[in-house]
Amino acid sequence: MKITIIGMGVMGQTLAKGLTASGIPEGDLCLATQETDQTLAVKGADFVVLCLKPKNIRQVSKDLAAHLDSNTCLISIAAGIPIEDIADALSDGQPLIRAMPNTPCRVDQGITVLSPSKTTTDSHIEAASEIFSCLGRVLTLDEEHMDAVTGLAASGPAYIYVMIESLADGGVMAGLPRKVAIELAAQTVLGAATMALETGKHPAELKDEVTTPAGCTISALLRMEDGGLRSVLARGVQEAAESARRLREQGA
Ligand SMILES: NC(=O)c1ccc[n+]([C@@H]2O[C@H](COP(=O)([O-])OP(=O)(O)OC[C@H]3O[C@@H](n4cnc5c(N)ncnc54)[C@H](OP(=O)(O)O)[C@@H]3O)[C@@H](O)[C@H]2O)c1
Repeated sequence: MKITIIGMGVMGQTLAKGLTASGIPEGDLCLATQETDQTLAVKGADFVVLCLKPKNIRQVSKDLAAHLDSNTCLISIAAGIPIEDIADALSDGQPLIRAMPNTPCRVDQGITVLSPSKTTTDSHIEAASEIFSCLGRVLTLDEEHMDAVTGLAASGPAYIYVMIESLADGGVMAGLPRKVAIELAAQTVLGAATMALETGKHPAELKDEVTTPAGCTISALLRMEDGGLRSVLARGVQEAAESARRLREQGA
């Protein structure tokens, strides 16, 4: 599978590093910057991944359109740019996928959601899943879900950082050194997330396993519920998804 990455910023480098670590033969990976001859870089590629800022996507797609082989599949990771906009810049029938990775891809613990277009086949999606699996998990969802994906998984790491900081503050208040408190909080988040993913149990069941009658954990949970913890988190995700939808509708 020959892959060309266009744009060697944070995400382009992250993907290149992940693919190299996964053992892609050197000759099958082509990395293109603004200085590269991109028309040459896309020649013979099975996949061209555009790791560009949203504002550059339409123009670069337009510039490349005439140089792409008809079976080359273009993947855009730009937030907020719908498939329809990119397809307009390309030749009719050019395979196209929209992808939404998140920042933990940088440590191979990301999640990437792929949305197929009318021109992609199951084998394109399978191959694209293989590409992004070097950065973590991969899901395929219809594009209509991308705003919700943005609100939950793309913005999500920021919510968790605030939670880690807040949990650590609690630890410091209870007498722990700051560094220790942050390590305890971060590893607890990682461990709990791993439990949820690996056991497949509902989070409520896992929570019940930690709460002994009249214990410390249930007393803490009730205090957090008093503060509206659940609805604050859920409404935050809803708000971010609505912001993503508004940005998209404004053509941002
Ligand atoms: N960062 C994340 O965690 C994350 C997560 C999910 C999705 N995304 C999406 O990923 C995309 C890339 O984000 P990023 O954080 O990697 O941005 P970035 O670090 O700014 O990288 C963009 C790169 O594209 C280069 N570039 C600009 N115009 C180009 C052109 N015509 N041809 C080739 N290269 C060109 C830029 O070079 P110069 O610096 O020289 O202009 C820069 O190296 C964005 O659309 C973003 O929405 C990012």
